[in-house]
Amino acid sequence: MTNTDFLLIGKKGFLGSFIYNMFIEDNVKFICLNDRLEDPTIYKKIKVHNPKYIICAAGIVGKPNRDWCIINPNETIDTNILCYYNLCNFCRDNDIKILFFGSIGIYNSINDKIFDEDDNPNNLNHIYLFSKYTFERLVKEYKNVIILRLGHCLSLKSNKKNLLTKIINFKSVHNKKMSITVLEQLFKFIPQILKNNNGIINFVSPGYISLYDIVNIYKKVFNKNNHIKLTNYNYDKHREISLVKSKYLNIELINVYKYLNNNMYRYNE
Ligand SMILES: NC(=O)c1ccc[n+]([C@@H]2O[C@H](COP(=O)([O-])OP(=O)(O)OC[C@H]3O[C@@H](n4cnc5c(N)ncnc54)[C@H](OP(=O)(O)O)[C@@H]3O)[C@@H](O)[C@H]2O)c1
Repeated sequence: MTNTDFLLIGKKGFLGSFIYNMFIEDNVKFICLNDRLEDPTIYKKIKVHNPKYIICAAGIVGKPNRDWCIINPNETIDTNILCYYNLCNFCRDNDIKILFFGSIGIYNSINDKIFDEDDNPNNLNHIYLFSKYTFERLVKEYKNVIILRLGHCLSLKSNKKNLLTKIINFKSVHNKKMSITVLEQLFKFIPQILKNNNGIINFVSPGYISLYDIVNIYKKVFNKNNHIKLTNYNYDKHREISLVKSKYLNIELINVYKYLNNNMYRYNE
C-alpha cells in the first residue's frame, strides 16, 4: 500500500492537467490514475494507493462541445451518472473523500436572477446538464462527496478549452454579466476544501463579469487594438447565462473583475 493523501483521476483533460501542474508546482504529494472509470480494475488500483482524498477530473463534457452528449446519451449517462455513482459508493465503503466537478449551467438566470446552492435548477433540458444534476441528487446526502459546480472556466494559461483563449479570437461578444470560475484564483483551495467541506458548492469567482469586460481587460493589458464587436445577448440564440453565489464557500476572495485586472498580465499564449 502507498498510503498517499491525494489521488487524481483524469490528468489528461483540461481541468485534470491544470490540477496536475498545480500540485507539482505546490509540492503536493499525489498519485495519478488514468484508467477508464468503467474498468472495474480501477477499484483495485485505488485500494493499492489507499488515498484519503480523490479528485475525479475524468468525465464526459462532449467534444467539441456538450452537444456531443445529445448524440451520445448512453455514454454520457454511463460515465457522468453510473460510473460516478459506483465510485462514490466504493469511496464511502473505503472511507475515502471524493471530489467531482459539477456545472452552474443547471441555472439559467432569466431576468438576472441569482441562484445559490439550495435553489432548484431551471435548465435541465440538455442531457449534459441533466446528467450533472442527476448525479448531484443521487449523492447529495453522502458525507464523503464534494461537488464543486463550475462556471465557464477561465485560466491564465492558454488552452483551447480556456474561456479566455476562446473569446480573444472571437469577432463579436455580448456584454451580459455572468459567473465564471478563474482556475488560478480558486483551484489552489481544492486540498483545503477536500479536508474541510462536503456537499455541493458553487465554485465561482466572486462578482459577475461579461465576455466584453474580459476582452477589454485583455486588450488593455496587452495593448491589442483589434476590434471586437459588441452584440446584444439573446436568450433564444445564446447559451444560458448563470449568475450564482455560494452559501458554503468560506474563502476570502477578491472580485473577479479586480482579479483579472491585476493578473491578466500573467496570461501566456
Ligand atoms: N471545462 C469546463 O468549463 C467545465 C465546466 C463545468 C464542469 N466541468 C466538469 O469538469 C470535469 C472535467 O472537465 P474538462 O473540461 O477537464 O473535460 P476534458 O478536457 O474533456 O477532460 C475530461 C477527461 O476525462 C476523460 N474521460 C471521459 N470519460 C471517461 C471515463 N469513462 N473514464 C475515464 N476517463 C474518462 C477524458 O478522456 P477521453 O477524452 O480519452 O475520453 C478526458 O481526458 C467534467 O466532469 C466536466 O463536466 C468542466
